[in-house]
Amino acid sequence: MSAPIKVPKGLYGVAVTETRIAKSDADGSLIYRGYPIADLAAHATFEEAAWLIIKGTLPTRGELDEFISSIGSRMEVSAKVYAVMRDLGRDSHPIDVLRTGISALGSVDSEPTVALQQASIEAKMSVLAANCHRVPRGSGPRGPKPAARFGANLLQMLTDREASEYEEWVFERVLMMYLEHDLNASSFTVRVVASTRADPYAAAAAGLAALKGPLHGGANEAAMDMLLEVRGPDNASAYVMSALKDGKKVMGFGHRVYKKLDPRAQLCKGYLRELLKKQGTDDSLYRLCDALENEMWERKKLPANLDFYAAPLMYSLGIEIPLYTPVFAASRVFGWMAHYDEQVAEDRLIRPDATYVGPTGLKYSPPGSG
Ligand code: ACO
Repeated sequence: MSAPIKVPKGLYGVAVTETRIAKSDADGSLIYRGYPIADLAAHATFEEAAWLIIKGTLPTRGELDEFISSIGSRMEVSAKVYAVMRDLGRDSHPIDVLRTGISALGSVDSEPTVALQQASIEAKMSVLAANCHRVPRGSGPRGPKPAARFGANLLQMLTDREASEYEEWVFERVLMMYLEHDLNASSFTVRVVASTRADPYAAAAAGLAALKGPLHGGANEAAMDMLLEVRGPDNASAYVMSALKDGKKVMGFGHRVYKKLDPRAQLCKGYLRELLKKQGTDDSLYRLCDALENEMWERKKLPANLDFYAAPLMYSLGIEIPLYTPVFAASRVFGWMAHYDEQVAEDRLIRPDATYVGPTGLKYSPPGSG
C-alpha cells in the first residue's frame, strides 16, 4: 500500500464519497435531491420532502397516501422499549433516553427486511422523541393520533395542546429544515456504521450519539439556554463581547459549509417574526435574535445557523428545551436512512488510516509494587 494521503483535521474540505441526496454550498444554497430548500419549504409538506429524501423523487398522490398511512401504522411502540426508557430515571437527558430507546427497539422489533426496519425506525423515532422526557420521569407515554399529519402529530405529542394551523405549518417547516444536510457529523457516523453492514437500528443509535454534541444537534438547546440568559436585545452586544473575550463559542453561530449565510436559518428567522405576530406576542425574542446575529457578524463574521433560529421557534411553540435535539432527530432520521441506503449500495468499509505519532520500541515490564 502506498503512503496514506494526509487530509486536514476534521476532514475540512475533503469529499470522502459521492451523494445524490443533498448538497449544501458555501454560497448559502441547499438542495434536497435537486430541489432548493426554499421551494420545498414554500410548497411541499413534510411527508413529501421526507419521501423525496429517502426515495429520490417527489411522490405521486398514491405513493404519498401510502407513505402517510405506512408511517401511521408503524407508530406504536412496544411496552418493553418504554420499560427500558423508564428505568433510566428522571435525571437522564432525553437524547440519551431516545438513543437507548432506539437501541432497545433494535432488540425487540421483528421486522424481517432492512426496508421495513427503516420504516419502523422512521415512524417510531418521532413517538420516542416525544416521550423521551416524560417516560423516565414516571409519566405514561403519549401516543400519536391516528391519521394525523406527521408534524401536527409530533407537535401535539410534544406539547399536549391544540396548535393553530399556522403553528403546525411552522413546525413542519422546522422539521423540513432538519431533514437532511449532506455529510454532517451524524450522517457520516451513520454511513460508517452502515459500511460495516450493521443493521439500521445500530446506525440510527450511532447517529443519535453524534447528534447529541453541542457542536452539532445539541446546539439548539444550548442556543435557547443562551437566549434566555441574555434576555433582551439591549444585552446582546455585551454578551457577545464577553463570550468572545473569554474564548467561548456562541451557540447557534458558525458552520462548516456556510460562511456567509445558512439558508435554513434565514427561512426560520422569517417564520419566527411571523409566528410571534400571529400569536400576538411581544417581538422581543425576535429582536434579541436579530441583535445577536448582527453582533456576531460584525465582530466575528460568523452567520447564524439553523439551530439558532429553530430554537426560539420551538420555544414559541411551547416545546420544552431538552426536547429540541430529539425533535431534530425525529426529522433527520429520514436523511440518515437515505445515507444508510447509499452507503450499503456502495458496499465499501469506511476504514481510514492514521499517522502514528506515539512512541515505539518500548519493552513490557510487569507492574511493580511502587
Ligand atoms: N462562536 C465563537 N467562535 C466561533 C464559533 C462560534 N459559534 N464558531 C466558530 N468560531 C471560531 C472558532 O473558534 C475558530 O476561531 P479561530 O480560527 O480563532 O480558532 C473559527 O471560528 C473557525 O471555527 P471552527 O470551529 O474551526 O469551524 P468549523 O467549521 O470546524 O466549525 C462549527 C463549525 C462546529 C459549527 C462551529 O462554528 C461551532 O462550534 N459553532 C457553535 C456550535 C453550533 O452552533 N453548532 C451547530 C451547527 S449547525 C447544525 O448542527 C444544524
